[in-house]
Amino acid sequence: MKIDCTIDGKTLTLSLNSDKPLSLILRDNTGDNDTVNHCNGAMCGLCTVLVDGKVMLSCMVPAFEIRGKNVTTFESFRKSKNMKDIEKAYESVGSYPCPECYASRSLIFESLIDEGITNPEEILKELSIVKCPCMDPEDEIMIVRRGIEIRRKRNVRRSQFA
Ligand code: FES
Repeated sequence: MKIDCTIDGKTLTLSLNSDKPLSLILRDNTGDNDTVNHCNGAMCGLCTVLVDGKVMLSCMVPAFEIRGKNVTTFESFRKSKNMKDIEKAYESVGSYPCPECYASRSLIFESLIDEGITNPEEILKELSIVKCPCMDPEDEIMIVRRGIEIRRKRNVRRSQFA
């Protein structure tokens, strides 16, 4: 089947099996090297992407579900101003994800910061899809809260100079 979607800002028409997982589409059809295909079964959380801004495990998203959607992988997100906010939050808290889960955790932090979620339980529930044990939960909560502050300040500055 043909599927129209946007991946990392590029509008694409893909011809593929409607059940093909998004993680394999990213590997085979877009040359994405950042999204990991590890367990292919919702066990590791290392294949996280944003679909219309929402966190999704790309190994669990069949092709037909991305029709008309906007997919963001870490490959494009890493160069964004929003990622700079998250890097500042990592630095401020003095805690960083390990190289293995850096991409997935950063995308989840982005979703939480974008939605302004400060509730510890909600933060940890969302981050629990990444099974890598490298981060202290207290640090994760502080990173989201710090990220929200940093994002707000940047948005205020931007509106003052608009
Ligand atoms: S590859 Fe492990 S959760 Fe998707």
